[in-house]
Parts: sequence; structure tokens; C-alpha cells
Amino acid sequence: MSNLELVVPNQVELHKDEPDELSIGKKYVDGRYAILGALKAGGQHKVYKAQDELSDMQVALKVFYETNEYLQNSVNNEIEANISLFGEPGITEMIDFGIIEETDQPQRFMTQRLGDIDCKTLVNNYQMISTDALLMGALDIAQGLSSIKQAGWVDKDVKPENVIVDFANNRLSIIDLGSIVKYKTQENKNFVDDSVSANEATHLFYGTRGYSAPEIIRNKQITPASDVFSYGATIYELATGTKPFNGDDFKEYVDEIENTKPLPIKAFNDEIPDLINHIILSSLERQPEKGHDIEEVEAIIRSIIKSRGIRRSSLELAY
Ligand SMILES: Nc1ncnc2c1ncn2[C@@H]1O[C@H](COP(=O)(O)OP(=O)(O)OP(=O)(O)O)[C@@H](O)[C@H]1O
Ligand SMILES: [Mg+2]
Repeated sequence: MSNLELVVPNQVELHKDEPDELSIGKKYVDGRYAILGALKAGGQHKVYKAQDELSDMQVALKVFYETNEYLQNSVNNEIEANISLFGEPGITEMIDFGIIEETDQPQRFMTQRLGDIDCKTLVNNYQMISTDALLMGALDIAQGLSSIKQAGWVDKDVKPENVIVDFANNRLSIIDLGSIVKYKTQENKNFVDDSVSANEATHLFYGTRGYSAPEIIRNKQITPASDVFSYGATIYELATGTKPFNGDDFKEYVDEIENTKPLPIKAFNDEIPDLINHIILSSLERQPEKGHDIEEVEAIIRSIIKSRGIRRSSLELAY
């Protein structure tokens, strides 16, 4: 716990120099994208809803902050990871990336397929997600995280607001690879025992209270197991409407993880299969590396879906 004070984020530093706003109604990138509205105005980036005149689709257009080397590196990683994960199930497709020249300062951007809503908003606005839909969504996110792991990355920021819903196809997919780091080097194909130091790899990322594994917050080694912890916290919240661990600050949050156990999911929702309750709770253990890896989680959920005969086409994701 001794180094916790060192890792409290300095948001003021990060947000000092915001990129220029894009104007609603105006077109950018040689007339390709017409801005329809803002999806997210604050935080580390600006995200807009835009009409892509070239593909005739609506997209999410993310404009990046790049006011220091750390932010430039994280944009490089976000774009590189999106390229390496293109077409993988559970990952939201990047459609385009480049530079917006029409603003005072040229700014990098990327566009992605537009989801209907993010899962945090979904949980906050709907009473419940049906158990079948929860299982299918849990499979989608597990598949996305398996792909991330297999491509050699750790996402580091899995949480409900970084997962979007596609109602037409009853699918969930991961967005926001803004904190992703390389875990596997090209030379080291067998990366199971490899790990990167959170300190080197993350610099200014200190985790998200409620979802990040303790080792990320404590600036220790991070591995794909850190993503399994965040996955557990995310599915727990989708299933119960509440986070497994809270805490008013990073220290309290880590104390809670180390000294308490969350209530079983079944205490909120007795329809949840025992096996799901078990794998989610074990992924939230204090030493997540001792729990299941994401491929195992994916296989278990897939078998539960099969044995319950759940079909995606007949699901209702929210009601
Ligand atoms: N493809 C998308 N479809 C629908 N909504 C999206 C999409 N991309 C982003 N959003 C909305 O915008 C919000 C912010 O986007 P995103 O998570 O990419 O940026 P961010 O959280 O600012 O990034 P970072 O955490 O790296 O600072 C999301 O939580 C979601 O509500
Ligand atoms: Mg985000």
C-alpha cells in the first residue's frame, strides 16, 4: 500500500489543453464526416456522432488529445491495436483514422461503428438485463478480451462505459482502447509468463476505481489477468446494477478488494447460473492470476449458452 499516494492521477495536468471543438452541422476530413452531435464532451477525448458520407453510415468520431508524449503514445497504441483487432468478435470495428486539418491545430481522429448506447448508460436506465442476454453479452466481452490477449495486448480499462450495445444484432462490443498496452513482444511468442511493469507501461494511467485490478493501481506487474478482474467487475455490474467494490478513493477501493468479498450475484438475481456466479466471483479474487484465464471463461460461458439453448436472434437485451 505504501506507494498508493504516488499513483493518484493528476487529471488537471492531463486536461489542460483541449483540442478544438468540432461544430455541429459542419463537415470535416474533406467533407467526409458531417458532425451530428456530441457523444461525450469531457474526459480525455471528445467523441462525436457523425454521418460518414462515404460509407453512408453513422459513426462515432473520436478526436484525440495529444498534448504530451504519453498521450501521443497512447493514441499510437489505440490505433495500432484497433488495426490488429479489426474484425475480431467483441471488438468494435475501427472504420477510419487520420488527421482533421480543418481545425486551428491539426488533430488525429478515428471513427468506429456507432453503437446504440454504452453499457453504463444501459445499466443506469433499465431495470434489468435478462439472464440469457447477460450470458450472451458476457460471451461477447470474453471473446473480445481473448482476442486482445491473443494479439498481445492488455486492455487495462474494461468497464461498462467502454462496452457498447448493438440492439439490432443483440451484440456487445468493446470500445476505447485508449489505455491498452503491449504485453507480448514480437520475439516472445510464448508470453504466458511474461509481464510488463505497470510503471513503464502506463505512466499516467492509474486505473478506474470500481473496475481496475489492484496491481494496476499499485503500479505493479500487469498481465492479461488484470483484464479478467475488470471483466468480472463489469459483468457483476451488468448482472446486479451495482459495482462489486466501491471505496471513495483508490486506497479505500484497494482495501475493500483485499479485505472484503462482494455479495454473490445470486443475492441480487437468483436466476443467475451457479457457474457464472462462481467464475465472476473468482475473477474478483485478490490474486486474479490464480483464477480462470479469459479463454476458460469464454469456453464455460459458451457451454452454458449451448446447454440453455439460447439463440441470439430471440434475445431482448433490455426491457
Ligand atoms: N462507437 C461508439 N458507439 C457509441 N458510443 C460511443 C462509441 N464510442 C464512444 N462512445 C461514447 O463515448 C464515450 C467515450 O468514448 P471513449 O470511451 O472512446 O473515450 P474516453 O472514455 O474519453 O477515452 P479515454 O477513457 O481513453 O479517455 C463512451 O463511453 C460512449 O458513451
Ligand atoms: Mg472510455
